[in-house]
Amino acid sequence: MDLQLVIFDLDGVIVDTAKYHFLAWKRLAEEMGIEFTPRDNERLKGVSRMRSLDILLEIGGKALSDVHKEQLAGRKNAWYVEYIDQMDASEILPGVLPFLDELREAGIKTAIGSASKNARRILDRIGLTDYFDAIVDGNLVSKAKPDPEVFSLGASMLGIQPEHTVVFEDAQAGIEAALRAEMTPIGVGDPQVLSGARHVIPGFASFGLPELERILQGNNNA
Ligand code: BG6
Ligand code: MG
Repeated sequence: MDLQLVIFDLDGVIVDTAKYHFLAWKRLAEEMGIEFTPRDNERLKGVSRMRSLDILLEIGGKALSDVHKEQLAGRKNAWYVEYIDQMDASEILPGVLPFLDELREAGIKTAIGSASKNARRILDRIGLTDYFDAIVDGNLVSKAKPDPEVFSLGASMLGIQPEHTVVFEDAQAGIEAALRAEMTPIGVGDPQVLSGARHVIPGFASFGLPELERILQGNNNA
């Protein structure tokens, strides 16, 4: 494969923001008398803000009007933003920065493909905004993962074909989106949880361009 573009999901791949989403959803759940556990939080990974709220309401057995739901999602987001505004470069997950540098030095383009409407805010906080050739976030797309829109748009913005594109994702919906975009998905996390990926890595700590090239050549153990 002639690798030209690497698209990264943001939450769970570049930074671990799931913990902040959890704290903010939990605060809302408590106010509403809903029990919300870290296990429940797993279901929200890669899922849009409104869909996350629907899952929370489903757990609590509550049905609300759209207007009320908008209001609750807004409250949750205000708390979430308080957490992310405290973030800095120390929250970039291990190995991400050297990998991004390696890709850039090799002339391979990089992009963000995230469901989050806060993606730019987070990238600014951690100082990574200028590291990416394209940033596609929840404000630019109308269809959530597993729809391929978020990844297809990133590649088309850069004029790169999907067969030359690799996607790093920590959520099953994102792996499916990459497959539907006809790109090569690589999972970040637990191979028991992520299916359909070309390969699953635990993180970027001992991972770089040579390892990626070996995976793409189909020689994962070398
Ligand atoms: C995804 C997260 O990246 O963004 C989800 O994995 C989150 O957990 C979604 O719900 C939307 O994020 P935001 O910042 O727009 O509420
Ligand atoms: Mg993610």
